[in-house]
Amino acid sequence: MKRSLAVTSAILSYGLATVALAAGDIQAGKTKSAACIACHGKWGISSTPDYPNIAGQTELYLVKSLHEFRSGLRKDPSMNRLAEGLSDTDIADLSAYYASLRR
Ligand code: HEC
Repeated sequence: MKRSLAVTSAILSYGLATVALAAGDIQAGKTKSAACIACHGKWGISSTPDYPNIAGQTELYLVKSLHEFRSGLRKDPSMNRLAEGLSDTDIADLSAYYASLRR
């Protein structure tokens, strides 16, 4: 109970601060993840230590990270270039998909 309240308020304050957390579509995210496989692996588990595993990460964190890469707040040459081309819907769908996978 305590935990779910904290999560809810985190989502609410994040939504107010930047973007509304639209519910992503897992199936659409799976299709869009073709662009991510080369570095993050087929199921979000990277095959090289240079790239982080993103399977099973929390959805809110994934949404936040992708927005930060897109805006340039968080810097990484590969991710900045990639995230530039993502819409809010793409970010929501990809985040829902990777959050749904097992670590
Ligand atoms: C060319 C390689 C490459 C591709 C393709 C790529 N990424 Fe990444 N990604 C990286 C690297 C490198 C990092 C680590 C960046 C850093 O150190 O901040 C990263 C970090 C991330 C993170 C943050 C993980 C964390 O633990 O903080 C997310 C989320 C992410 N990528 C999602 C995606 C998604 C979704 C796609 C497909 C649309 C994608 N990436 C495609 C290389 C890639």
